[in-house]
Amino acid sequence: MIFAAHRSDFAIAEHPESRVPGSIRREDARAHAPVAAETSPLLRIKGVTLEYRTPERVVRATHRIDLDIHEGDRFVLLGPSGCGKSTLLKAAAGFLRPVEGEITLGGVPVREPGPDRIVVFQEFDQLPPWKTVAQNVAFPLRAARALGRREAAERARHYIDKVGLTRFADSYPHQLSGGMKQRVAIARALAMQPKVLMMDEPFAALDALTRRRMQEELLSLWDEARFTLLFVTHSIEEALVVGNRVALLSPHPGRVRAEINSHAFDLTSIGSRDFQGAVQRLHSRLFETAPEPEASTEASA
Ligand SMILES: Nc1ncnc2c1ncn2[C@@H]1O[C@H](COP(=O)(O)OP(=O)(O)OP(=O)(O)O)[C@@H](O)[C@H]1O
Ligand SMILES: [Mg+2]
Repeated sequence: MIFAAHRSDFAIAEHPESRVPGSIRREDARAHAPVAAETSPLLRIKGVTLEYRTPERVVRATHRIDLDIHEGDRFVLLGPSGCGKSTLLKAAAGFLRPVEGEITLGGVPVREPGPDRIVVFQEFDQLPPWKTVAQNVAFPLRAARALGRREAAERARHYIDKVGLTRFADSYPHQLSGGMKQRVAIARALAMQPKVLMMDEPFAALDALTRRRMQEELLSLWDEARFTLLFVTHSIEEALVVGNRVALLSPHPGRVRAEINSHAFDLTSIGSRDFQGAVQRLHSRLFETAPEPEASTEASA
């Protein structure tokens, strides 16, 4: 099957699926069609099963997930609560080892966390409260021995400007709103210039208006820097707006149910017939009860 490339051609492709590029609407600056199939993926998730083991039991969080994320993708993991989105992100970040399958970054197996993969979480309290905004953003640059003091401060300043917090560079986290703290966390992550920026429901705790603004800001940052994004959400609308590709995961344990090419949509699409149609189709896919093959979700250890 060929992925749709036009706004009117939104299609849901069954997974596994090849990444066949369609024509791009050039007038849409943000349109980012899937990269040619022959390009090797930056982040490859291959047959990945993830489990949590406690003395009493084993919880299977994901089951044999296959995903290829290419450079410059804004790749969204969409699925219901408990389907293993955060777990998959943790594994891609190197905090958790697959019990089956492999995750590679640039062809190299991911075995531990590294500065090439930075995660932004949902919580507003991910910033050390005793450091100013500027210090918060500069600190990991210094800690990773990436840059000297002056260079780190300069780069921090640059990314603080980018997220519109120049006036708050010397403020402390408690002096900022939730949305502003999230912007600091994003600036801190972007300043590291990671190969993949990972975001786990980063806007979920924000009010609707701020959330929309943050999505807009993220997309304009992407327009400038073209980083590779792995983004987790359980909002269908957010997935379509933020992502150029969306993987729909089934309920616990997460399997890839479908892959969607959503690069034609952005914030201006919301409310359009095509967008609403896409939301509806995703909604029905999310809530349909597909027969799940093999593997019990929980087993005795
Ligand atoms: N530390 C843990 N120990 C045991 N089980 C866990 C642990 N963390 C998560 N799980 C289980 O693994 C499954 C997947 O959890 P995960 O947090 O990845 O889901 P999620 O898709 O991110 O959900 P949400 O949308 O609610 O954040 C769930 O059944 C959860 O109960
Ligand atoms: Mg989660």
